[in-house]
Amino acid sequence: QSIHYFEEVNSTNNVAKEIAASEEEGTLVIAEIQKGGRGRMGREWVSPHGGIWMSVILKPGIPLRHASRLTLVTGLAVANVIRNMGLDARIKWPNDVRINGKKVCGILTEAKAEVDRVEYVVLGIGINVNMDLKDIPESFRTGSTTLKVELGRHIKRVSFLQDFLLELEQQYINFKTQPFSHILNDWLALSDTIGREVKVTTPSRIIEGKAVGVTPDGALIIRKADDTKEEIIAGRCIYVR
Ligand code: BTN
Repeated sequence: QSIHYFEEVNSTNNVAKEIAASEEEGTLVIAEIQKGGRGRMGREWVSPHGGIWMSVILKPGIPLRHASRLTLVTGLAVANVIRNMGLDARIKWPNDVRINGKKVCGILTEAKAEVDRVEYVVLGIGINVNMDLKDIPESFRTGSTTLKVELGRHIKRVSFLQDFLLELEQQYINFKTQPFSHILNDWLALSDTIGREVKVTTPSRIIEGKAVGVTPDGALIIRKADDTKEEIIAGRCIYVR
């Protein structure tokens, strides 16, 4: 296992994917700034100084269809660490960690599979830690916050990282040794999505209704106005009310 530290990268997920085949599980890629930080669904991820931009390489040997479970595992780990700091972190499906309705962390999971077996998973985790809101470009500022803004003080990033990696390891051990329903229950307890009226946008369509649950693979279950249910594995979720 090793830690690859950079002052500046294009995207830690890109670096991680380049080295994943020859690296051990648990390898970490971390950078002070990203010039081409990527968010979900092709979006840009603003990554200035003061944040934690990192990717963790895992080799869980699971079927590809279970890879999205690791996104929930990671969101749970981030939320737990932030909650231990005394902040009320909540998870918005599938992977935004938010405080008072504002996003403080995003997760981009990318996997490579051979037939149906995952060769590696790259967990890309971006946490807004010590930035002020003025450090975030105006077009991205609404709906975002940072740990420093919420706590009103500077955070030691190294201690945060140590706490997070320990928590992630614990959750990963749980993931590998326990029924996934245990993790899902913990995730549900911290999520503020279930019970909400939502609008989910996927590349092909928009689904509106009430979020009534998640499937064992982490897909969101929506009950639509005509009372039928739909499961959505990936998309952008907006709370309507
Ligand atoms: C999202 O909410 O859209 C996901 C954001 C993921 C950002 C992290 S920062 C580290 C890693 N490298 C990237 O380019 N993206 C992820």
